[in-house]
Amino acid sequence: MKIKPFKLERFFAEHEFTAPFNMCASDCEPLTMAELLDMADKASLKLWANLGLGYTEPQGHRLLREEISRLYKNISPEQVLVTAPEEGILVAMTTILERGDHVIVTYPAYQSLFEIARFLGREVSEWLPREHKGWSFDINDLVSLINPRTKLIIINFPHNPTGATITRSDLAKIAEIAGRKDIVLFSDEMYRFLEYDERDRLPAACDMSRTAVSLSGLSKSFALAGLRIGWLATQDGGLFKGFAGYKDYTTICSSAPSELLAIMALRARDRILKRNLELVGANLERLDGFFAEHPDLFDWRRPKGGTVGFPRLQGETKSSQFCADVREKKGVLLLPAEAYGFEGNNFRVGFGRRNMPEAMEKLRAYVNQYMR
Ligand SMILES: Cc1ncc(COP(=O)(O)O)c(C=O)c1O
Repeated sequence: MKIKPFKLERFFAEHEFTAPFNMCASDCEPLTMAELLDMADKASLKLWANLGLGYTEPQGHRLLREEISRLYKNISPEQVLVTAPEEGILVAMTTILERGDHVIVTYPAYQSLFEIARFLGREVSEWLPREHKGWSFDINDLVSLINPRTKLIIINFPHNPTGATITRSDLAKIAEIAGRKDIVLFSDEMYRFLEYDERDRLPAACDMSRTAVSLSGLSKSFALAGLRIGWLATQDGGLFKGFAGYKDYTTICSSAPSELLAIMALRARDRILKRNLELVGANLERLDGFFAEHPDLFDWRRPKGGTVGFPRLQGETKSSQFCADVREKKGVLLLPAEAYGFEGNNFRVGFGRRNMPEAMEKLRAYVNQYMR
């Protein structure tokens, strides 16, 4: 059996670098090298100037793992494995899952979160949110999906693509149930730190439970997708050993320059996160205004965190057709729900980029010209 194409990544491979206005990106406006070096502390600049370009420590640069562990309460540098974010998903899924296992995943989802499990022949159940309740994920729905073969629960909050999240008490319940039933909790926290109200920020799963795994990285909230730096963090020594061993078959170690740039970024994290939250907040307000002008055309449920939202196109036109037409006529890239294999007539908007207002004006012109 071959692994199925990653629809969303194939879509971006085709359109991301040709469409003039990307209005569905999930990262924040990428930092430039000059901006990052400008924020860097003296010690890392010195390391940068003298950096050797040999293999690096397989687990990740010691100083990088120290900075990463500062993002957590109960994680030491020894409990962090540096990987590219997408690589972390592959490493974790292949290590954790065995024949006959059942997996539950928040859905719609970034495809690798469930597709690797399916490729491995594992049964996958989808934990769906309720759109009419603001994309709320009901924990009772999750509990009803658990069976004696459930080995892994995969969650992703803030959620790509809806921007939804859950309450702290629901996360605590999930961690408790998973721990009690010997289920691994895998929490994709790529959009953590981009909650618009800090009170909505969930604790990291790896801090909450000894058997949970958190995936995070610099691509989204930290505006550094090009570094390809992310990590897996867990207190579970057995799982960790498996992850580290599997990485020997993927990349062995990370890129030396990227690791150092990542150290600089994490040392300047408050500045970077403030910049990104301001950008996302201002863009989101503009989007609220746009969707409020057209309630008959779009059903918009405001996200709680992250850089993306998942409005639904009302009426007869298919969202895939709408997205293709907007791209053709106005050069604006929107991501149809079909890229998630999701049946609803939704599409993804992204609001982490600096030119979002310009892209939105193009979309507004499209709406006025062709939909009114
Ligand atoms: C939820 C989620 N997890 C993981 C990833 C993978 O991140 P990266 O593309 O930096 O490998 C993405 C990227 O879009 C994502 O949205």
